Amino acid sequence: MKTILTGLRPTGNLHLGHYFGAGKTWREIQNDYDFYLEIADVQALTDNFNDPEKVRRNVFEITKDLLAIGLDPEKVHFFIQSKIPEIAELTVYYSNLVTVARLQRNPTVKTEIAQKKELFGNDGESITYGFLGYPVSQAADITCFEGEVVPVGEDQLPLLEQCREIVRKFNSIYGETLVEPQQLLSKTPRIKGLDGNDKMGKSLGNAIYLVDDDETIRQKIMGAVTDPNKIKKDDPANPDICMVYYYHKLVNKEENNQRICEECKKGERGCVACKKELIEAMHEFLAPIQEKRKFYEEHPEEVNKVLDKGTQDAKEKAVETMKKVKQAMKIDY
Ligand code: TRP
Repeated sequence: MKTILTGLRPTGNLHLGHYFGAGKTWREIQNDYDFYLEIADVQALTDNFNDPEKVRRNVFEITKDLLAIGLDPEKVHFFIQSKIPEIAELTVYYSNLVTVARLQRNPTVKTEIAQKKELFGNDGESITYGFLGYPVSQAADITCFEGEVVPVGEDQLPLLEQCREIVRKFNSIYGETLVEPQQLLSKTPRIKGLDGNDKMGKSLGNAIYLVDDDETIRQKIMGAVTDPNKIKKDDPANPDICMVYYYHKLVNKEENNQRICEECKKGERGCVACKKELIEAMHEFLAPIQEKRKFYEEHPEEVNKVLDKGTQDAKEKAVETMKKVKQAMKIDY
């Protein structure tokens, strides 16, 4: 069985974008790979170092979310990044193999720096050494567990390329030691936000979270963007540009969606009624996930057990890799 590794920054709860995106891929691959899932708290701290409470809380929040969407702790090694100091140790050694210029050219880092400049309105002076270097730390995440395959979205590809460069450089200097990872590019399309934005996200305020309660969901759906040309209840409209229909297609039944689409086109369906039907469908869709999550909410010791077990598995693997690396680098005193 091949080893697969991926990570997730614990900075907020999972939303539907995660459920239908990475979450879907992860549910599928858990049966076919030896799957290490890193809760990347150290990486989350690179740009949340001034809010440790948030990171700590979200380590448990996203673990519960991941269990609720059907990742099986018998199959997946859930582990906390900061509990594996070998990753930090590898990061130090790898940092000699990467130039600052190369990190500054990394497209993912570049985009994130641009977003920060926009957000904080400064000239990038606040970019820390730790943030600039997080691709190096991510290369350590992957290689520490000899990850052969890494499931990624498009936005993470430059980070994987950077990892492969580090592996090749390491192996060429110190001898064949590290495993060069392959990508498993996600086939699931990105889920749009309730406002029609191409991306669903916390900062955009357009996401439905798996933990959202009935009232929150009702408010969010009532505010979703519909066909702007439809003014009156019985105006015909175009469901293909309506976010309410878009979400019906995600969570409602196929036969209902056909009816909804036809009624909408003929002007036989008001948006309010349509939204109410979506609220119902969303409720039904989320109920089993929330039910499962409630179990872990009420049994935090079970969550700890999952994390402890996974972290123990990860530790074993990390110690093995570290030994090989130190031998190769002639620092195995
Ligand atoms: N950078 C990823 C993200 O922001 C999280 C991550 C951390 C990761 N370590 C990883 C992804 C290793 C793939 C492999 O979502």
